[in-house]
Amino acid sequence: MSEPRPTRQIVIRRPDDMHLHLRDGAMLATVLPESARHFARAIVMPNLVPPVVTAREAAAYRDRILAALPEGAAFEPLMTLYLTETTDPDDVAAAHASGLVRAVKLYPAGATTNSASGVRDFDRVRAVLERMAAIGLPLCIHGEVTDPAVDIFDREAVFIDRVLDPLRRATPGLRVVMEHITTGDGVDYARAQGADLAATITTHHLIINRNHILAGGIRPHYYCLPVAKRESHRQALRAAAASGEPRFFLGTDSAPHPDHLKEHACGCAGCFTATNTMALLAHVFDEMGALDRLEAFTSRNGAAFYRLPLNDGSLTLTRRDKPASWPARITGAPGPVTVFDPGFPVHWHVSD
Ligand code: NCD
Ligand code: ZN
Ligand code: ZN
Repeated sequence: MSEPRPTRQIVIRRPDDMHLHLRDGAMLATVLPESARHFARAIVMPNLVPPVVTAREAAAYRDRILAALPEGAAFEPLMTLYLTETTDPDDVAAAHASGLVRAVKLYPAGATTNSASGVRDFDRVRAVLERMAAIGLPLCIHGEVTDPAVDIFDREAVFIDRVLDPLRRATPGLRVVMEHITTGDGVDYARAQGADLAATITTHHLIINRNHILAGGIRPHYYCLPVAKRESHRQALRAAAASGEPRFFLGTDSAPHPDHLKEHACGCAGCFTATNTMALLAHVFDEMGALDRLEAFTSRNGAAFYRLPLNDGSLTLTRRDKPASWPARITGAPGPVTVFDPGFPVHWHVSD
């Protein structure tokens, strides 16, 4: 019989989630407490139906989020605007100047959930991008081409060559976040750029590869966009996350959909990880011998890129022999939402 492993503990600054879907209405009320429990702030995605396009809409959405917070929760939503071909540069600049909006989100039209109002013709958003470069407002990008001729597993790498690099060359000084990178190509590209480019990495892309989705039966709760790639890409993402390099930080992309829309003939894309992300990340960083870099990934690098102060307060993570547990699904008015299952026991526990 093996000896029980000694209890180990780390204390990190309270983390930020730099890419989060909170939705609206009943779903917002259901999922918001899951993020507010551990995270101090989150960059809140604007892909509602209809999308959050104007400063006025972002202010109203922010008010709805604050109203849905549990009593006593300290959580700051960092708002974003959904870039459309008719977005007004003056509205964006005013939203930034007032401190309401921290980023603008670019969805190529048709690339992912609720992206129909996104950008088709990049020339039409040129004036907005130039204004953003001038004022230092970051552009967060869902980086996948939508060309049906491009294989879904290649859509991120092709986007970098065909869209991202030309767009950045055409708009010098534009600060960009490559959202939820899933490939070694994304890691390599990010590493070759200056401090005006960063990349978020999700929890689930550090844990699953495409076999987890497809081998031995199709697992809809592992399906998200960009879809998980082969194992070598997962290894590249893990090395990047655990590197401590300032350009890489956590954006969970926790994206709730009710179970009946995931377990469906045409299931929605998105993994819901808000509940167990911090325990899972402690597990992954421990496995990599990089626990001392966890705080950089979750609590420092993102704040630095977004030019925000570091959070006060801390989170304690403790490794115990008894595995951590969480509900298999959370329940609320929209119906059950399955929590991401890593498929292995997790011995790291979170306490405030
Ligand atoms: C996200 C969602 O459900 O809003 N889904 C996903 O698979 N990641 C959209 C997105 O971030 O692309
Ligand atoms: Zn996306
Ligand atoms: Zn997302």
